[in-house]
Amino acid sequence: MDHMDDLTVTGCERCPELVASRSRIVDGVGPADADLLFVGEAPGEQEDSDGEPFVGRSGDVLDDALRDAGLARADVRITNCVRCRPPENRDPRSEELENCRGYLEREIALLDPAAIVTLGKVPGEHLLGRDVAVTSEAGSIEEVKIGGARRRVLVCVHPAATLYDRSQRDTFEETIRQAADLAGDGGQAELGDF
Ligand code: URA
Repeated sequence: MDHMDDLTVTGCERCPELVASRSRIVDGVGPADADLLFVGEAPGEQEDSDGEPFVGRSGDVLDDALRDAGLARADVRITNCVRCRPPENRDPRSEELENCRGYLEREIALLDPAAIVTLGKVPGEHLLGRDVAVTSEAGSIEEVKIGGARRRVLVCVHPAATLYDRSQRDTFEETIRQAADLAGDGGQAELGDF
């Protein structure tokens, strides 16, 4: 029987294809009271092997941008919409996103972050519940209900998009600086009664 103790998912077998393709369930990492929650799509090969989100090349890009913005990786929480590596790194299917949604919502509720930063199109669309043009919307902040509570979501391009495109890297770094500012400004309290 699957369950989530605090922030750890155990024994989940809701997605047969992912159970077959994963080595392990990759839970989020970082402090349970972090101001910022970064949400990616799903673990890749390196993440599946190490059991930690964003530890491959994309993780290096994220770590560098965090450092440039005055944050350490250990200051923030990092997780994914789907906790198991899809076969051949394909995009997670909508039913897989839905199967894993409760875990993500629980993580968000326990953390109560000042802002959620979506890394790429899949998490942006999953949490905003609409089509997202990530490149043109990067840096925009939207308040949206997630698991019954209003949350502040900051749209960001996926770190992998920056690897071969300098302008995407600039956009990425600017959005991470924005995220750092949100973390420093008192978080949800700033939103007042909305
Ligand atoms: N890309 C993601 O979306 N998530 C990871 O954990 C790694 C790469």
